[in-house]
Amino acid sequence: MPPKEHPSLRLEALSLEHLPGVMSWVNDREVMQYFANRQTPISEDEERAYLVKLLGSSTDRAFSIFDGARYLGQCSLNQIYWPARNARLFIALRSDCQGEGYGPAALKALLALAWGTIDLHKVWLIVREDNRSAQAMYLKLGFSFEGVLRDEYFVLGRYHDMVRMAIVRPLGA
Ligand SMILES: CC(C)(COP(=O)(O)OP(=O)(O)OC[C@H]1O[C@@H](n2cnc3c(N)ncnc32)[C@H](O)[C@@H]1OP(=O)(O)O)[C@@H](O)C(=O)NCCC(=O)NCCS
Repeated sequence: MPPKEHPSLRLEALSLEHLPGVMSWVNDREVMQYFANRQTPISEDEERAYLVKLLGSSTDRAFSIFDGARYLGQCSLNQIYWPARNARLFIALRSDCQGEGYGPAALKALLALAWGTIDLHKVWLIVREDNRSAQAMYLKLGFSFEGVLRDEYFVLGRYHDMVRMAIVRPLGA
């Protein structure tokens, strides 16, 4: 089956107006189990403060993902290390928007911004070793494996190995 196209998908620079959308997934275990931090319930005030910090940061670029008027989730480039122009990728989709090909579509748009206006050289991420579907998606997008970080995350009482993956800016991008 060909990949689903999402011509009306767009990334909007994060704004506090997107807070209600963010609150729709930030306390959802199905989404958050793949991340190490932020594992306890997050109030709207706490999330607003977190977004304000992101918005003021020189080392983060955060985007909200929409399909038309439908809010789907967030993606971002964090921990930007300007001397080598690399950054860590983050993506989270609302659970009711997963499995429809929005993840790869949003990541293609995010990488276009990374190589374009943000002018990065490399994007990396760490993904849970058992999150094989996310790894398959990153491979299809051109990421390669860089190594395994043993017992790197501790989530809900157990350690998890994390896999580091990265993509270097393609020639001509
Ligand atoms: C991970 C996430 C961004 C993926 O986005 P998504 O839109 O749900 O992705 P999809 O399920 O539509 O699949 C994306 C691609 O991966 C492929 N894929 C999915 N599961 C797969 C599997 N088990 N084996 C091989 N390929 C797989 C699909 O084939 C699809 O590729 P295609 O469009 O070429 O067919 C999203 O599910 C999410 O936000 N999950 C929760 C948070 C998270 O895990 N974030 C990433 C942490 S690193």
